[in-house]
Amino acid sequence: MPAFTATAPGKFILFGEHAVVYGEPALAFPVTTIQARANVNALIKGNHGEIYIEAPDISLSAPVMELDPDHPLRAAVSAVLGEKGPGEIPACKIQVTSTIPPASGLGSSAAVSAAIIRALSAFIGQRLSDEQVSHLTFQVEKIHHGTPSGIDNTVIAYQKPVYYLKGEPFQFLSINKPFLILIANSGRPGHTREAVQQVHQYWINDRERYDSVFKSIGRISKKAKELINTGSPVELGPLMDENHSLLQELEVSSPELDRLVKAARKAGALGAKMSGGGMGGNIIALVDEGVDQVIEALNSAGAVNTIISPISAS
Ligand code: PMV
Repeated sequence: MPAFTATAPGKFILFGEHAVVYGEPALAFPVTTIQARANVNALIKGNHGEIYIEAPDISLSAPVMELDPDHPLRAAVSAVLGEKGPGEIPACKIQVTSTIPPASGLGSSAAVSAAIIRALSAFIGQRLSDEQVSHLTFQVEKIHHGTPSGIDNTVIAYQKPVYYLKGEPFQFLSINKPFLILIANSGRPGHTREAVQQVHQYWINDRERYDSVFKSIGRISKKAKELINTGSPVELGPLMDENHSLLQELEVSSPELDRLVKAARKAGALGAKMSGGGMGGNIIALVDEGVDQVIEALNSAGAVNTIISPISAS
């Protein structure tokens, strides 16, 4: 039986995180320079139903069925098996690696699930469409995040920039002019689940105020889509600054993220904001000239890693 390998990219959210959970649009882009990879090999001497999983990044090596049923790696395998019992598939070993920093708003969990789902389904002779991979990844994301909006699994399964509105068919973004985004890691892990729960609590306590913040973020996403579509990406900078202020108002930023955002702007970035669930994780900055200068300023302000993510016209 041939081996199968699948990869899935990281992602960043350009505009609209958190508000997207409340029905406002958001824009997300794949980051192909970082990726999760799953490799499925048949175990010649194994018995049907023996599925081993190895994930050296988290020091895991175990039979899948010995993991907790809620373990996200087991959940990804179960998503593929569906109604099938494990006994119906040939013995195999799934090796999982990832260069996507975990807990940093770059889609590590969704990418790992998508890679496993794609590779294992191909191994058992049931290649899945992007839509099916996205759907199954979403099921696993619910374990990680509780109430995910669906944006991560969508951008990661389709590997294309998306304009996403919960409950509506998503759209691929059409990009008029290329631009450059710098991603910088604050070194503090992000806490998406907690951030989403905290925002929910605030919203319960004062719906009027938080609905208005979400609407303002939604307006930014809509304007950004138009600019990306037809205008000049340079104009996205001020929108990023505005979106960051609104995320600060939601109290999902952190002193480390705010410091990086400030440093990037001061060094010449056209705009900057935190990205993803927040409370740690990454910031993104729009840069046209002086990329090295902005990277240097970010490093001095405490960034532990930077990634250059060019966005091509499409
Ligand atoms: O932290 P990430 O990359 O999983 O992004 C979370 C984005 C949120 O809007 C905060 C939550 C969601 O499910 O959309």
